Amino acid sequence: MNVNVAIVGTGGFSRMHAEILAEMNDVCVKAFCGTSMKKAASIAQEFNATPYENIDQMLAEEEIDALYICVPPFAHGEIEQRAIDRKIPFFVEKPLGVKGEEPQRIEEQVKRYNLITSVGYHFRYQETVIHMKEYLQAKTIGMATGRWIGSMPEVAWWRDQKRSGGQFIEQTTHIVDLLRYVAGEVKEVYASYATRAMDKKYDGVSVADVGSVILTLENGSVATIINTCIVPGNLSDVALSIYTSEGILEWTPERLKECIGEHVHEHDNTCNPYKRESEAFIYAVQTGDRSRILSSYEDAYKTFKVTEAALHSANSGATVALEDEC
Ligand SMILES: NC(=O)c1ccc[n+]([C@@H]2O[C@H](COP(=O)([O-])OP(=O)(O)OC[C@H]3O[C@@H](n4cnc5c(N)ncnc54)[C@H](O)[C@@H]3O)[C@@H](O)[C@H]2O)c1
Repeated sequence: MNVNVAIVGTGGFSRMHAEILAEMNDVCVKAFCGTSMKKAASIAQEFNATPYENIDQMLAEEEIDALYICVPPFAHGEIEQRAIDRKIPFFVEKPLGVKGEEPQRIEEQVKRYNLITSVGYHFRYQETVIHMKEYLQAKTIGMATGRWIGSMPEVAWWRDQKRSGGQFIEQTTHIVDLLRYVAGEVKEVYASYATRAMDKKYDGVSVADVGSVILTLENGSVATIINTCIVPGNLSDVALSIYTSEGILEWTPERLKECIGEHVHEHDNTCNPYKRESEAFIYAVQTGDRSRILSSYEDAYKTFKVTEAALHSANSGATVALEDEC
């Protein structure tokens, strides 16, 4: 079956997904929808697609089998709703939104209509993550530590709390999602955030630029995840380490270092996880078989709730239990 795809969003990640889709057999990137015709036309001409500035018009005029939603956090909700109304399977970039009400409304409908969805937690598709998950299945996890250290992205929406949700919701969500994927569900969250430097460097900074989050998992293990966006870009450092009585697994986006007793194995990632992610979603649209999709909207919603709970904890000073959040 040939799959006709439309993409909402005209930024860096719309282009990245479009380039992968354009290389795939039986996939046609038919249309782009942006906030202006100029932006949509600029990217659409690169892919020989049709530009739109109105999603309703795009979905009425094009025969679309799958929608890619690659917009900033604040722009979610209405776009997903349009896909649900027309029962169009959709892929959506993380995070699902800024505040819980919108993702909750979408999640309920995705479940009700049993819609095929996929969310851009691409690390789940890495060979190293699949290996780590399999290895940990029969082990007792003691503790995990994770970090997302980097510089503040230059786009204006990112430094605005109302539009991005802040670093833990926007970026560090990847580490929270990996933790849930390989180690288990989170029961309780306590967070401490502060703004230390970036408000002096840029105008309009309302996000925290440092944060430390303690998580208790349902299986009894504990985790600490830290993040900051104050360091220079060349010092970027992203990682998740898992500690068991047999050893330490140290994951970074590039590789997995497995230290088991005296043995140290290093596994490099060789496949492009973004490509695998799209192949899994398109296969599900073609066949109805969702088994290759590793992050559905319903599952990603749980990651979103953990990151939102961390923000509530940082704002209130209280530990937040996830069941209280639902
Ligand atoms: N999975 C990953 O590794 C990864 C990496 C980078 C970005 N992302 C995510 O992808 C999303 C987009 O990031 P980006 O880097 O492309 O951002 P960007 O700022 O480069 O582009 C966002 C685009 O969305 C457009 N837009 C905003 N509201 C819109 C609306 N209502 N309808 C149509 N278009 C709209 C903007 O005009 C802009 O062109 C973000 O949520 C980001 O977190 C994911």
